[in-house]
Amino acid sequence: MKDTLRKLCEAYGPSGNEGQVRDLIRSEIEGLADSVRVDALGNLIAVKGSGGHRVMLAAHMDEIGVIITHIDENGFLRFAPVGGVWTLGLSGRRVAFADGTIGAIGLEKLDDRDRVPAMAKFYIDIGASKKDEVHLKVGDMAVMTRPFVTNGGRWIGKAMDNRAGCAVLIETMRRLKAPKHEVAFVFTTQEEVGLRGATTSAFGLDPEIAVAVDVTGTGDTPKAAPMAVSLGEGAAIKVRDGGMLAHLGVKDLLVQRAEENGIAYQLEVLEGGTTDGRAIQTSRAGVPTGVVSVPTRYIHSPSEMIDERDAEACASLLVVLLENDITL
Ligand code: CO
Ligand code: ZN
Repeated sequence: MKDTLRKLCEAYGPSGNEGQVRDLIRSEIEGLADSVRVDALGNLIAVKGSGGHRVMLAAHMDEIGVIITHIDENGFLRFAPVGGVWTLGLSGRRVAFADGTIGAIGLEKLDDRDRVPAMAKFYIDIGASKKDEVHLKVGDMAVMTRPFVTNGGRWIGKAMDNRAGCAVLIETMRRLKAPKHEVAFVFTTQEEVGLRGATTSAFGLDPEIAVAVDVTGTGDTPKAAPMAVSLGEGAAIKVRDGGMLAHLGVKDLLVQRAEENGIAYQLEVLEGGTTDGRAIQTSRAGVPTGVVSVPTRYIHSPSEMIDERDAEACASLLVVLLENDITL
């Protein structure tokens, strides 16, 4: 999974601009699905297997980023967030645009250095000295840029949220020899700006059961908010997050399959934030939906950290879910 995830993490894909990530995933899943299509919102839908239930698995391709709002006479770019970007730590970060242009984030002189400045105080410097030299346009988006690195089984990169989930879905497709169900692997768009790709793809697919795969926080770092999820302790099976209550039947089935197969898991209650699972669950007349999460430290920073074993456990859990009967 490491090589796939490295490529995915380093790719450019802010919300609404998932094309590069989609192309990469398309080549990674070549020959693994019975059919592959892209819908109007850019969701990549790969279907494998037949019979049983119509199952939807979802992982979002997009990542947080910034969007140019204004370019001044001296060629400095002002920006707004795309998704949940924290201002803390922005200064000095590098961003990459779709064409590979790199910018450094600078910060105006501050009156009070002890307060976290507003986003309006930051700007992107691409090295231009006047507006004419800037080939970028208002509305162009950039993502944080940082190489994917590993410290043994701990992997660090930008956009682990949610390329880790994408890699889990790809790995599941690779390992899944005999699905008992018609499984739609959906690589969704625009999750970070409001679960939009999941909303339309769930409506279109009309699944009977769904599982979203995304990252979740952990409580295992210094003075972290209390949370009973740790890196390396296994796949996190969601009970609740800020936007949904997992369907109890799906949650219990995931727990049962993990226990039967000796797959490490932990129960997840995330106090803030949500995933595609929320949009899928409330699609049409409602879809029994669960979430399998990859525990991740420093979510929405350029150094999101996961444990290899957790990602492996997530894939193992999905494989046994899909190779067995589903009764809720
Ligand atoms: Co996110
Ligand atoms: Zn996410």
